[in-house]
Amino acid sequence: MLPKSESILLHGHLRARSEVELLQAYSAPLEGRRQSLRLDFNENTIGPSPLVIQALRSISPEQVAVYPEYDGLREAVIANLSRLDLACNILTSQVGLFNGVDAAIHAIFHAYGDRGDQFLTTTPTFGYYIPCANMQGMEIKTIPYHGLSYEFPFEKISKSLHDLKPKIFFICNPNNPTGTRLKPEKIFELSTISPNTLLIIDELYEAFTGDSALPLIDFYKIPNVVILRSLSKTAGLAGLRVGFAIGHESIIDRITRVTGPYDINSFAVTAAFAALKDQPYIDQYVDQVLKAREWIRSQLMNNQIRHHIDGGNYFLVWPRANPHDVVQGLREQGILVRDMSEKPLIEGSLRVTIGTTNQMKVFWKTFYSLENRELVD
Ligand SMILES: Cc1ncc(COP(=O)(O)O)c(C=O)c1O
Repeated sequence: MLPKSESILLHGHLRARSEVELLQAYSAPLEGRRQSLRLDFNENTIGPSPLVIQALRSISPEQVAVYPEYDGLREAVIANLSRLDLACNILTSQVGLFNGVDAAIHAIFHAYGDRGDQFLTTTPTFGYYIPCANMQGMEIKTIPYHGLSYEFPFEKISKSLHDLKPKIFFICNPNNPTGTRLKPEKIFELSTISPNTLLIIDELYEAFTGDSALPLIDFYKIPNVVILRSLSKTAGLAGLRVGFAIGHESIIDRITRVTGPYDINSFAVTAAFAALKDQPYIDQYVDQVLKAREWIRSQLMNNQIRHHIDGGNYFLVWPRANPHDVVQGLREQGILVRDMSEKPLIEGSLRVTIGTTNQMKVFWKTFYSLENRELVD
C-alpha cells in the first residue's frame, strides 16, 4: 500500500482506495444476447409469467414520476415463502429488499467485511463473492469441492470454521457452477460451529432442488445466518433486478444501512408483486426444466460424454473438441453457453443452462455436429 501523500495521484488519475486500485471490474459477457438461445446465464429461458407482463403494461405515468414505494412487498415475500413449512414466522423486519442478490452480496461485504478479516467459501463457486471480499481488503480462503463428483468439502469447511472463525462464510446451495447440493441439516450443523461467523446461504437455484435452509432456521436461535433468494432465475425477472436477504433483523438492518433508499425501481416492484403471486407459473417452469434435465442427462450418458449434472438449471460438459472452438461454433449457430474451460477444477468444461426439452434438443444437435460424432439415440 502506498503512503497516503504519494497515493493521491496515479498516472494523473485520482487514486481510489488501495483495494479498489487492485480490483478488476466484475464483468460478464452480457451484450448482444437478445436474439440467441441463451444458455449462458442460468436465466429463465421462456420469460416471466404473463401476469408480470400484464402488470408492467398497466404501470401509470404517475408511478414512473414518483419514487418507488415498497409497502407490502416484504409481506408478499413472506406469503410466498409460507408454502415452505417454516420453522418460525418470518417478520417483515427480517426481509431485506435489494436490487438483485448481487446488490445484497455487495451490501453484506460492505457492512461486515473489514480489512484483514477472513472470508471463507468453496471453489469453484459464484464469481461475485471474491471481488466483494477483495473490495473490502479481506483475507480469502477457498476450499475446493472434492473429486470428480464435486462433493461439498464438509470436513475441511468444518475445520476451517473451527480454526479460522472467519467473519463471513458463503455457501452457494446448490452451487453454481458444479450443482453441488448440501442438505439443509448439514448447513444447520455448520451454522453452529462458529457463532460469530456470518453464514450466508445463497439459494438462487433452490427451486430446482428443494433444499432450502429456511424451514430449519429460527433466526432467534441462529442469528448468524442469512439466506439469499432472487426473482432473477425461475421467476424470469433477471432484467428487472429483485433479490431478497432473509435473516435476523439486526443483520438485515445493517446490510440495509449500506444500501440506497430507492435502489429497487418501480417496474421491478410491480413485477415482483405479480411474480410472487403466480407461484404456479414458476412451479410449472421448474417442472419443465427438471424434465429437460433428465432428457439431456440421458443423451450425455448414452453418448459417453463427460458431464456433471446435479442441482440447479445448468450442467457442466467437457467437449472432446477444443472448448473455445465449441463455444464459438455454438455462438455461430445462435446458441450461447458459458466457457468455463480456464477455471481451476473444471478445466475444459462448458456450463450450459437447462431450458425446455425443445431448447435442449436444439443445443444437443449443434453440440453434436460440432463434436463431429455419430449420434446415438
Ligand atoms: C449463485 C448466484 N448468486 C447470485 C446471483 C445474482 O443474482 P441476481 O440476478 O439476483 O443479482 C447469481 C446470478 O447468476 C448466481 O448464480
